[in-house]
This record gives sequence, C-alpha cells and structure tokens, in this order.
Amino acid sequence: MISSSPMRRGRRLVRLSVAVVVTGGLAAAGVVMSTGSATAQADTLGAAAAQSGRYFGAAIAPNFLGEADYASTLNTEFNSVVAENAMKWDATEPNQGQFSFSGGDAIVAHAQSQGMSVRGHTLVWHAQQPGWVQGLTGDSLRQAMVDHITGVASHYAGQIYSWDVVNEAFEEDGSRRQSNLQQQMGDGWIEEAFRAADAADPDARLCYNDYNLDGVNAKSDGVYAMVEDFLARGVPIDCVGIQTHLSQDSDLSTYQENLQRFSDLGVDVEITELDVGGSGSAQADVYRTVTESCVAVARCTGITTWGITDKYSWRGQDTPLLFDANYQKKEAYTAVLEALNAAGGASGERDDQPDAAAYDQMARRESVPVPGLV
Ligand code: G3I
Repeated sequence: MISSSPMRRGRRLVRLSVAVVVTGGLAAAGVVMSTGSATAQADTLGAAAAQSGRYFGAAIAPNFLGEADYASTLNTEFNSVVAENAMKWDATEPNQGQFSFSGGDAIVAHAQSQGMSVRGHTLVWHAQQPGWVQGLTGDSLRQAMVDHITGVASHYAGQIYSWDVVNEAFEEDGSRRQSNLQQQMGDGWIEEAFRAADAADPDARLCYNDYNLDGVNAKSDGVYAMVEDFLARGVPIDCVGIQTHLSQDSDLSTYQENLQRFSDLGVDVEITELDVGGSGSAQADVYRTVTESCVAVARCTGITTWGITDKYSWRGQDTPLLFDANYQKKEAYTAVLEALNAAGGASGERDDQPDAAAYDQMARRESVPVPGLV
C-alpha cells in the first residue's frame, strides 16, 4: 500500500482554474445538449473532451500562428496547447543565464486569448540541450539544471496546467538512460528536477513524460517503479505523460491497463504527444482505441496530438495527424470525436474532480489523505 504524498502547495488553484477553462470552452464551442437527455453531441474536439472534464490539445509552433487555416483550426477544435519546441532548453536558455521566452510567450498569449490551457514541454531532456550544457560536469551541470528549471518555471508560474519536468530518461529495458544528465549527476537528478520545479511553480502539475509507455512493458515498469518510489518518499510528482507516438499497426492490447495502473498508483495520466502513422480506417481505429482508453480512466485528464496538420508534422510522411495537409478532417478525426462524445454522458465522466467546497476542505486538512488524490 502506497501512502499519499503530501499535497503540493497550490494544487487547489490549478484544478479550479482548469475547471473554469473547461466550462468556458463548453459554452464557447456551443455544445448541443439534447433536452431531457444525459448525452450531448459536441462538434469540436475540445468541446467534446470538455464534456467529461478533459482537455483536447495540440502541439504548436508560434511561427505558424499567422497562417489563417492553422490558427482557425487550432482555435476552433482545440482547448489546450503545448509548445512543440519553443519552451525547450535550447530555445529558452541559449546562453547560460540568458533566458529567451519570445516563442513560449507568444504561445501562452495566444492560448490565454482563446481560453485554452497550456502544457509545458519540457524542462529537462537529454536532447535539444544548448551547446554550453553539453560540456558541463558534476555539480556545474546540477546547478545549471536547477537554475534552468527555476528560470523557466518561474517565468511561466501560474500559467501552466502541467509541466513535462523530465523527458525521456528511461531506456526500453526500464533502466535509466545513460545521458549526460544521468552520468554526471547519478540517479538523484530526476528527483532534484521535480523538487526545483515544485519550488518554482507550485500551481503546475508535474509530469514525467516518455515514449513507448504504450502498454505494460519493461520501460513502463521502470517508470512505474520510479513514480511509486517518489510517492512513497513525498517527492512532488502529479502525472505521467504517455507520449503515444504510434502507427496503425501498434499493439494496444495493454494500453488502457497501463493508464489504469498509473492512475491506481496515485498520479494523473495525460496522452501528451499522440500521433498515428497510417491512413483511413486502420489509422482511425488506433486513434479511437487511444481515446476510448483515456476516457475510460478517470485520472486520464486529457489528450494532446503532436501537431495539428500533417503539413507540419515532425513525421509528415507518415500522415499521422487528425487534419491532412489541407486542413481537411480525416477519418481519424471522426473516430476521436465520436469516442469523446460517447464519454460525455454519465458513464465516461471523470469522477475524481472535487468541487470547490471539497477543495477548500482539503486545503484546511492537508495532512489527511484524500481518496483518489495524491
Ligand atoms: O527552427 C530551425 C530552423 O531555423 C533551421 O533552419 C532548421 C534546420 O534543421 O532546424 C529548425 O529546427 C528544428 C526544429 O525541430 C523546428 O523544426 C530542429 O532542427 C529539429 O531538431 C526540431 O525537431 C524537433 C524534435 O523534437 C527535436 O528534438 C521536432 O520539431 C519535434 O516535433 C520533436 O518533438 C519531440 C518531443 O519534444 C519529445 N518526444 C518526441 C517528439 C518527436 O521527436
């Protein structure tokens, strides 16, 4: 039995502010409620997800926001965003101690103007480190990591729903990736990163994010063990990001089971980088399964696709997204929308969202474990 970790400061505020966004999104998108019925049929992804208290987001790049089709598809269909590259270490601290937030700020400003929530990606990763980081050793690297987390997470404090604090730190066999971070700082670096993020932005949920966590496997076992250890020792962690880069042939036989076991352990799960190489009904079926899996797990709080259109996908030749290169909705889009709408009724609704009175009660009794919450 894992004991609950201490509630992180500010958690109450984040949950409430997200609830406001979700409520606003429902109204703005004009969800069609059938009178006298528990079911609703929304006609956009964001509104459909909001019916069960979830978000539906996209990874975006600030330089595309001036393209009319890009912006209108984003604004119409999605109610959450994440920076595909603009908040990474190389973009935000190109020289040590000199921060650059222009790209990230543009994304946050756009999101706020549209009532969207914002995911943060990513504070620490072995890839896309600026050159000056790669040469650091030992305590110099540790201090640089903490300073980076503090600088970026403080800048965006209060504006981020959840941060990918650490990205892709595990190998496929469940061991730690032997990156410069691991080799120079040893096992404790991930924990240190989470503690620094918690200090800098107590309102954000703090996630560990990785790929190939798409089932119960050696890699997800390794991450599970880390989360279990963090929760037992009170290391601040709130969520696991399941990236979900797939193909139409992917085996999803234990996908939902994996989401559920993390949820049962005491963290939220988020589908953070969903894309599915393929086309037609085979691609649509995989998207449908992922969406159905998320909405079946109460602590799966939302889905983000890794881009909007195949036109700008990092793997565009695989045509992996919900909108084609001409911004036309694909079969996969319809599958996702249907799955989200199917969860809009009583059966798929998230049951772990306390109301405001419950939050106030929790805030007064921080030492008392709250069922379903860490
Ligand atoms: O912006 C420059 C441009 O100025 C330059 O001319 C061009 C020349 O190569 O490079 C451009 O930057 C590229 C950037 O994408 C924007 O297109 C980088 O080289 C390229 O490395 C970068 O790739 C990104 C990749 O992460 C790098 O780590 C992808 O866009 C991005 O989709 C991908 O995202 C990752 C997640 O962060 C973590 N999970 C996996 C996922 C897919 O690889």
